[in-house]
Amino acid sequence: MTEPYVVVPPVAGKILNDRSGNDTSSPNPHDDTLDELQQGLLAPTAQVSPKFLYDALGSRLFEAICELPEYYPTRTEAAIFELHGEDIAAATGTGVTLIDLGAGNCAKAARLFPSLLPRQYVPVDISVDFLGAAVEGLRQRFPQLPIQEVGMDFSSVLALPDSVQREHRLFFYPGSSLGNFAPAEALQFLRRLRQALPTGEAGGVLLGVDLVKAPTLLNAAYDDELGVTAAFNLNLLRHLNRLLDADFALRDWQHRGFFNAKLQRVEMHLEARRDVLVHWRNGGQRRFQQGERIHTESSYKFTAEGFADLLGQAGFGEISQWFDPQRWFMVCHARAV
Ligand code: TRP
Repeated sequence: MTEPYVVVPPVAGKILNDRSGNDTSSPNPHDDTLDELQQGLLAPTAQVSPKFLYDALGSRLFEAICELPEYYPTRTEAAIFELHGEDIAAATGTGVTLIDLGAGNCAKAARLFPSLLPRQYVPVDISVDFLGAAVEGLRQRFPQLPIQEVGMDFSSVLALPDSVQREHRLFFYPGSSLGNFAPAEALQFLRRLRQALPTGEAGGVLLGVDLVKAPTLLNAAYDDELGVTAAFNLNLLRHLNRLLDADFALRDWQHRGFFNAKLQRVEMHLEARRDVLVHWRNGGQRRFQQGERIHTESSYKFTAEGFADLLGQAGFGEISQWFDPQRWFMVCHARAV
């Protein structure tokens, strides 16, 4: 098999980033990024979108989180793929156009190459530089595989370039990232994927879904002993300092991560250790009282039934679900129907 590479225009990511205004690596981000951040920081309960966690260092720290004993999702999901790989490939079909949403280091998808035999691999990530480095390594390991990387914030619009094949698209969204959307947004996001899929074909969606479980396990997973998760969360403030010319002092803040049973979600916050006044570009500022928080991410946890229901509402069917023996995590495939 000597399929040629797809030649990737080096500006693909930049064009898309410009459209969404979220090139987070740029020292002079677009006005809409500034507006978005400013609006969140000034809201009664301050919040910053979790996508800003993933600058180059943030992406590395998240890789480290995935190695932590407390952070079960990555390991458990990998075990499910290991255990049920054949059945999963039988459900998705082979020769797919594998679209990897939030690809990061591309390692999860690369492990599926031998069973899914993708015809094209399309890693998509907001962290363009990090993705570029990962793709370079992949091209060496899989010289036959056409790879079309896309630097894009796909959380609001899914604008795939024309070079992404339409046939047998399989959207791969592992790590329970779907749980980082609020329920209504998750539904909207799934509907958007549904619209980008031809009805009834092989392919569909292949999703990693974290399940509701004992709060002690969840709390440990999001607030580890070594403090890597804390560093990951706090790094967001460094990123904001760069993006906004802000003056967050990291020592004034601490990580909080805990399960909110009522809302079935883990919440991540940055909490002010003392009263602080933060300034940023163009005269923006906010006072935070001791104990006041910036909400940085929520990670909703699902039940198998609840998730199947959500998929149905988004226009998917023929749902298959696979679990680890402890039922901590689930891999789910569904087709556009
Ligand atoms: N998407 C991951 C999750 O919900 C991200 C994550 C893990 C995270 N630990 C975190 C985000 C701590 C913010 C803070 O599991």
